[in-house]
Amino acid sequence: KVVNVVLSGGVGSRLWPLSRKSRPKQYLPIFGGQSLFEKTVIRNSEICNQVMVVGGVDNYQLSRDILKKTATTDYIELVEAAPRNTAAAIAFAALSLPEDAIMLVTPSDHLIGDQEKYNADLSQAVALAKNGDLVTFGLIPSKPETGFGYIEHEGNNVLGFREKPALEQAKAYLSQGNFLWNSGMFCFAAGTYLRELQKYEPEVLKTSKAAMKNAKEGFLPLDLSMEIPSISVDYAVMERSDKIKVIPSNFSWSDMGSFEALFEYYPIGSNERVGENLVLGTGKHVEFIGMEDVVLVETDDAILVLNRKNAQDVKKVYERLEKEN
Ligand code: GDD
Ligand code: MG
Repeated sequence: KVVNVVLSGGVGSRLWPLSRKSRPKQYLPIFGGQSLFEKTVIRNSEICNQVMVVGGVDNYQLSRDILKKTATTDYIELVEAAPRNTAAAIAFAALSLPEDAIMLVTPSDHLIGDQEKYNADLSQAVALAKNGDLVTFGLIPSKPETGFGYIEHEGNNVLGFREKPALEQAKAYLSQGNFLWNSGMFCFAAGTYLRELQKYEPEVLKTSKAAMKNAKEGFLPLDLSMEIPSISVDYAVMERSDKIKVIPSNFSWSDMGSFEALFEYYPIGSNERVGENLVLGTGKHVEFIGMEDVVLVETDDAILVLNRKNAQDVKKVYERLEKEN
């Protein structure tokens, strides 16, 4: 049994005003009429025979609507009362599965191409996971991005895992040549993950167990959830475990986190492009004079205009508005 555990926390604040608490970015149907969440479920259904979504109270209905429409296999939802980060989210899923169930843990907000290559890599990962390994998927880095994890490797063997290095470090990794980006997708047996979590973050496991024990029909209780230390799977397990393997992968992969990524996604000639600029969300005719690299986004209640090179700063705007409201 291979279960696709889809992590669907997070708002996607760098895509405000398209992305809202009430409709996080992974549910926006802006990729040929489909959302990233929907594409994730469909993509993984070729290899997995069950979907388990771990997400928040704000979005479980959004997930369910898409699962009803697209899931070709059975699906289960685990609903978090509050986000407790990925080490716990994955523990919730692992605790509700048989020990030998193979979990393919994926984010819900990535865009992936080359389905054939992807399937081949997944099959290889499933085989390693059955052997008791924690499998990651590594992509060849194209820039010293500091928002990703880096995997030093020799073939499938992992020499080291470093989550979100500083810029100088990331540059050194790139020039060293044997580092891959961690894709943020993992494959392992439920039992393997729980044993490694017990070894490196026993408190996360203990408190996650207590919360799961008191879950009602997949809904986790708030009070016990707040006892769980908030730490990502990358820091909690991946940086420390000696059971990690990597599949060097070359399917096309993009973390659709910002308007910069969307700029790259929509080629010149697509409806969203007006010359060297990007226009999203509006039905109005837009013209630009003497401008390039501009992103214009319109929704019912907001307009955002920015230069694509400032794409990371949208998060700050989102956070300021959160505080003001
Ligand atoms: N259910 C749930 N609950 N999901 C969560 C939670 C939570 O508390 N926190 C995060 N997630 C989901 C996010 O929605 C996303 O789909 C996934 O888990 C990863 O979290 P991010 O917050 O997006 O992580 P990141 O982008 O900083 O880093 C990870 O992904 C990179 C690749 O995109 C790491 O794995 C890096 O090593 C990796 O390079
Ligand atoms: Mg991410």
